[in-house]
Amino acid sequence: MVLKIGPYAVESGLVLAPMAGVTDVPYRRVCRRMGAGLTVAEMAASDAHLRCSAMTQRRTRADADDPLPVVQLLGADPDEMARAAQIAQEGGARIVDINFGCPARMVCGKACGSAIMREPELARRIMRAVRQAVTLPVTVKMRTGWDEVHKNAADIARAAEQEGLAAVTVHGRTRAARFTGRSDALEIARVVRAVSIPVVANGDVLEPADVLALIEKTGAAGVMIGRGAYGNPWIFRRARALLAGDPDPGLPARSEAGSTVLEHFDAHVDYWVREEAKGGDDEQLERGRLAALRSFRKHARWYMTRFARDKDAHDERLMEIVVRTDSLEEARAGLLEFFES
Ligand SMILES: Cc1cc2nc3c(=O)[nH]c(=O)nc-3n(C[C@H](O)[C@H](O)[C@H](O)COP(=O)(O)O)c2cc1C
Repeated sequence: MVLKIGPYAVESGLVLAPMAGVTDVPYRRVCRRMGAGLTVAEMAASDAHLRCSAMTQRRTRADADDPLPVVQLLGADPDEMARAAQIAQEGGARIVDINFGCPARMVCGKACGSAIMREPELARRIMRAVRQAVTLPVTVKMRTGWDEVHKNAADIARAAEQEGLAAVTVHGRTRAARFTGRSDALEIARVVRAVSIPVVANGDVLEPADVLALIEKTGAAGVMIGRGAYGNPWIFRRARALLAGDPDPGLPARSEAGSTVLEHFDAHVDYWVREEAKGGDDEQLERGRLAALRSFRKHARWYMTRFARDKDAHDERLMEIVVRTDSLEEARAGLLEFFES
């Protein structure tokens, strides 16, 4: 399967979903190494004030290691979105994605994300402004609509196509559903039928086989995986095998997984200490180390839960240590012991 986005061909059509607080630069690198064809950076606010924040600047700056960096922008003001898109382009992005899917009521003091789906004319103006501001392909990610009686993803997708956008991603839930219930593949299929630009299907892909099922149900050109990649970058290579008609290689053995986990840990610490400490004094460095360790805990918990032996006291003890300690050395040693045993 090849997903075409403007001039780019995304091999495998498998996309790592943007997940704020999870899919940072180090984890996106891990997932690409494991077979994700495209990874989308966490949403960045287009709001002029927030644009100055370290977090927004970090999310808008392309990762030099990424051959096809996608920057995702969130906002309700067409001019600010256009300016933010230009900044993303100057920062090295190769694709700009517009977020019409975030369910939070207010971001940057304004209704944006999925709230824009309630205002189709504003949605169109945002897409047009961003499209005209950059020479890059522009894509949009949305939900199926605001609620059960307002499902207008196909209309917004048609507007996206008319405005020259290169692809759309649809998460098969309404804004009202947030993350409850099941993602609705039939609604995604409706969008696929409504447009001739590529549609990426998203929602509830937890196992490699779910990728094939979602393609079959929707006819989508690509599949985006979010929570199914929690502590599970291997889902990409497994899904790739299935897409190629090969058998699922399964999860790696615990010791093999361990080398990926340790590499992720080291890269995560290296990246976040540099980001948080910013060449400051020893005290700042120590704060950076602690921030890096704490932000890795969720990944550690997901990895260890996935590989833990049922009711194994040794595994449980190591997991407790790794997710509680404030010592980088102790956390690393705990991970090493867990995956080597
Ligand atoms: C923790 C978390 C953070 C998310 N952050 C973003 C984001 O920054 N931008 C976005 O478009 N969607 C975001 N999403 C939504 C996901 O990209 C995806 O659409 C959703 O999780 C459904 O896919 P899944 O069932 O494969 O997880 C986030 C989801 C989660 C769970």
